[in-house]
Amino acid sequence: PLPPRAAAAGYRVIGFDSVGSTNALAIDAAKAGDGGKVWFAALQQTEGRGRRGRAWESPYGNLAASLMIVPDAPASALPGLGFVAGVAFDAALARLLPDLALRSGIDGADGTSDGQRARIALKWPNDLLADGAKIAGILLEAFPRPAGGTAIIIGIGVNVVAAPEGLPYPASALSAFNPAIDAATVFEALAESWVEWYEIWNGGQGTPRVIERWRENAAGVGAEVAVQRPGGVLRGIFETIDDAGHLIVRDDEGHRIAITAGDVHFGTT
Ligand code: BTN
Repeated sequence: PLPPRAAAAGYRVIGFDSVGSTNALAIDAAKAGDGGKVWFAALQQTEGRGRRGRAWESPYGNLAASLMIVPDAPASALPGLGFVAGVAFDAALARLLPDLALRSGIDGADGTSDGQRARIALKWPNDLLADGAKIAGILLEAFPRPAGGTAIIIGIGVNVVAAPEGLPYPASALSAFNPAIDAATVFEALAESWVEWYEIWNGGQGTPRVIERWRENAAGVGAEVAVQRPGGVLRGIFETIDDAGHLIVRDDEGHRIAITAGDVHFGTT
């Protein structure tokens, strides 16, 4: 079900047990003329899509959810929505976690969970990490609507009960912090937080406010990174992201390089 704020804001949700890909369903809806504000949510995907043409594993009990909207914003602003999604979902998972940490009995010496709970952080361009391991990925797709405007599809896959194995990076699942967490609870938190951050973005504060929040919760600032780009690997120090959301890396010679697309690995490997 949709949480109160999302329902009041006119969002809908269509839930599934198992589907091919919720992003594919959302694109089909846009093709069919659906005007948006609709979530497609599933407990399992058999053909989940990841970034850069990769597959995304969504075994049963994890959350696959895609939101289709038709924003009333200029085309040049639309890439900013990836960051809106990142900060909204980051905030949602972070809000779930204090609870998770407490319920799993992870208490600090002072009786609170501070400093003990997993830190949820953002990894460029928009992965979500818990204690440094990937817990969720976001895939943004755009589709020009026959009826006019651009449909934006924001897909998020959350490792709720299982993390895939054999990936070239560390991955984890929310169940590692609390075995009782379920996909419906996670979905409601994401859908509610989306409404809040979309209003901040759409209501005048725009991408700069969103990027500011993104920076506050970025993983690996100041760390060595290796960035795999179409042209090869760039090594350097991850400095920040700029106001347009580019990754800024300082290389050995002190050049600041702005990167628009690529995969980031922390460390030098
Ligand atoms: C990534 O590569 O990190 C992005 C993964 C995005 C996966 C989600 S699951 C819901 C939606 N439907 C898909 O087929 N992919 C996205």
